Amino acid sequence: MLEPVEKIFEKKYLTKEDIINLLNTSGKERLSLFQKAKDVKSSILGKKVYFRGLIEYSNYCKKNCYYCGIRAGNSRYSRYRMTDDEVLEAVKYAYINEYASIVIQSGEQTNKAFISKIESLLRRIHQRTGGNIHVTLSLGEQTEETYLRWFDAGAHRYLLRIEVSNPGLYLKLHPNNQLHGYNRRLDALASLRKTGYQVGTGVMIGLPFQTVSDLADDLIFFRQLDIDMAGMGPYIEHVDTPLYKYRDELLPLKNRFELSLKMVAILRIMMQNINIAATTAMQTIDPQGREKALMVGANVIMPNLTPVKYRQDYLLYENKPCLDEEAEECKSCLEARIHMAGDEIGYGEWGDSKHYSNRTL
Ligand code: 5AD
Ligand code: SF4
Ligand code: FES
Repeated sequence: MLEPVEKIFEKKYLTKEDIINLLNTSGKERLSLFQKAKDVKSSILGKKVYFRGLIEYSNYCKKNCYYCGIRAGNSRYSRYRMTDDEVLEAVKYAYINEYASIVIQSGEQTNKAFISKIESLLRRIHQRTGGNIHVTLSLGEQTEETYLRWFDAGAHRYLLRIEVSNPGLYLKLHPNNQLHGYNRRLDALASLRKTGYQVGTGVMIGLPFQTVSDLADDLIFFRQLDIDMAGMGPYIEHVDTPLYKYRDELLPLKNRFELSLKMVAILRIMMQNINIAATTAMQTIDPQGREKALMVGANVIMPNLTPVKYRQDYLLYENKPCLDEEAEECKSCLEARIHMAGDEIGYGEWGDSKHYSNRTL
């Protein structure tokens, strides 16, 4: 017999068993979970949702993660790197439209030229916007020295998903070599924290071999790491990847989406003042996926600012939305969606993680 969810909500500290119970809720209890997460969000963070303009800077990647469409081994895509002007143009769009914050994401590259290029772009962005645009980086595992260089050049937030917190499962989803080692990822997260970044991590939900117990451990992992930001979304198979052969063993898309919503809701209850993204992958499954995530605790959304000509080549997974929509169209679309979810957009506000501000006071 499950413990009633109301009892679980009274606890200060959810146990693994509590989390598993919440992940398994249905009917009325499921609705109570979503309502509780909604209440926590509105009492702790209010109605504000923050935009992060997403710049998918380059699809070159030296890695071969088994789930990802832009893995090095996939020769289907033509590889691109945005020019400085294209990046600055996207930043300008974000600036004029008061997004206040951008994310620069790319496949993992660690060569000297790449590191210096990012550093110089960061300085130019800082200069052009008078430091008024906050930059989040999502550029994979780098040395502590590189993280520090980019921090000094003006980046203050970093997203590096753990993907799955179970080391055995991590090994199944990545090539078995040092470059793809689980401990490297943990070390990189520790370096980011040490360097002073607001640190975000996250996982994919509904992967082959993944269990509800693994997902509960993922949430506990976030709490142990004391993260400032989280981005989680359903795993969506991609035909050009090794994991595609397990497609018949996956949970139906609908269930992966449902679990993702519950993960967002439970995390909001566990870590009340962090930033949680309503991820694009959620919209890939359900046309209203991002609004639904906002309604159960997410408070950040990432409109795509990548030039449309590159979007076909940045397909980490299939059926990614907004392939043809220019920044302007996504902006109006998202405004409408956010209002539909009963929230407001924090234009001109950085929307730093309250958790980070509190822990660094
Ligand atoms: N389905 C869902 N998310 C994926 N990512 C990579 N491949 C997939 C996929 N097939 C996510 C990873 C990575 C982020 C940039 O995209 O979690 O960290
Ligand atoms: Fe490269 Fe990231 Fe894709 Fe792995 S998930 S192959 S590191 S872009
Ligand atoms: Fe891009 Fe809706 S968010 S079209």
